[in-house]
Amino acid sequence: MESYIIEGGRKLDGEVNISGSKNAALPIIAATLLNPEKSEIENCPNIHDVFIMLNILEILGCKVHKENSKITIDTSQINDYEIPENLMREMRSSVILVGALLGRKHKCIFTYPGGCEIGARPINMHLEGFKQLGVEIVEEYGRITCSCEKLKGADITLDFPSVGATENIMLASSVAEGTTYIRNVAREPEIKDLQDFLNGMGANIIGAGSNTIIVKGVSQFHETSHKVIPDRIEAGTYLCMAVATHGNIVLKNINSEHISTTIHKLRQTGAKIEVHKNELSICAPKLISPINIKTLPYPGFPTDMQSQFTALLSIANGTSIVVENIFENRFKYVNELIRMGANIVVEGRTAIIQGVDTLKGAMVEIKDLRGGAALVLAGLMADGESKISGIHYLERGYENIVEKLQLLGAKIEKK
Ligand code: UD1
Repeated sequence: MESYIIEGGRKLDGEVNISGSKNAALPIIAATLLNPEKSEIENCPNIHDVFIMLNILEILGCKVHKENSKITIDTSQINDYEIPENLMREMRSSVILVGALLGRKHKCIFTYPGGCEIGARPINMHLEGFKQLGVEIVEEYGRITCSCEKLKGADITLDFPSVGATENIMLASSVAEGTTYIRNVAREPEIKDLQDFLNGMGANIIGAGSNTIIVKGVSQFHETSHKVIPDRIEAGTYLCMAVATHGNIVLKNINSEHISTTIHKLRQTGAKIEVHKNELSICAPKLISPINIKTLPYPGFPTDMQSQFTALLSIANGTSIVVENIFENRFKYVNELIRMGANIVVEGRTAIIQGVDTLKGAMVEIKDLRGGAALVLAGLMADGESKISGIHYLERGYENIVEKLQLLGAKIEKK
């Protein structure tokens, strides 16, 4: 198994190009299943999760052509509606295929999805939404069969603004008979990107970004081309890494509006940030001020940035408090930070971080994607060498992270 070897203590300096968003690209790729015509997707990140999603589409009978960050998908020959269990287990977002397959084939067979173990992550809201659209759901030994004669518009209220449930219901309802109201929806920018993609191929959806999405079902789609939005979590991760290493970097290809809470929190640590159109420069403070963070659905502070900030705050000049409100088990990486000398106590959903002068390089193991980003960040700022294993979790979501960090002056190798 390969690891990252990092010689810490080097300032990040230079420019980094932010890739297309993983969390926008995955549902958009799934959404192509609704459309028998060709879809072209640009700015799609080259990461493991995208490869798995494309692999599932090929198994279902689609033709996929990939050239760097541009993907063309032809679903005209789709001949299956069963998602293979091994691939379903590899990735949580595979569940988003269900809404698309219900829309296209009126049937989908699947098992419970896998993915990072950061909480129980049930799919009850997805299934409840499908039921209200007229889908019959039969579950036997963990194998779920969803089917319907036709999908019918409904008035659906989510118990919680779940990103995945919002997307899945949008996909299925886009071809339902009549109008669907989806209330208390997630407002993440990736939802708006999915709406834009679907409307670009002929859907009739409004409201993404607000509390209620209104979907008027359509019966036909047409060829389409779409450019995926920049990855706001990748952008935020490099910003935290710059501050952690007392560096000075420029991010290219970003949407600064999507990272406004991250920018706000980094300014509170003392970082100087200048935003220009689609790029941003950051200059780290000499001393990192401690801050308090609570994760919340968008536009609140993103849970996907929680671990990177916790790692950064482990060398702040005082005590910080981080509260995780979205996932109940998202502090697993903290034990590894403690091995590197961090002083962090976790009580339930709260981490109390007492800043130390410096972390020390150590052998640590990644257990989830964003926790992995936190450990790489810790390795970059620590004294001495760190060996970080479990890097397959990280490579699920960060395109060319080793090359990008090397270009910024980090001493990191994959061995
Ligand atoms: C998506 C993102 C993930 C991000 C998360 C929250 C993708 C591919 N992944 O995940 O990176 O961390 O949003 O911003 O876009 N829940 C239920 N029942 C359900 C669905 C969700 O109880 O049917 C709970 C979850 O366990 C969790 C909370 O709702 O506690 C939020 O989950 P959700 O917004 O659905 O996250 P994902 O779509 O899985």
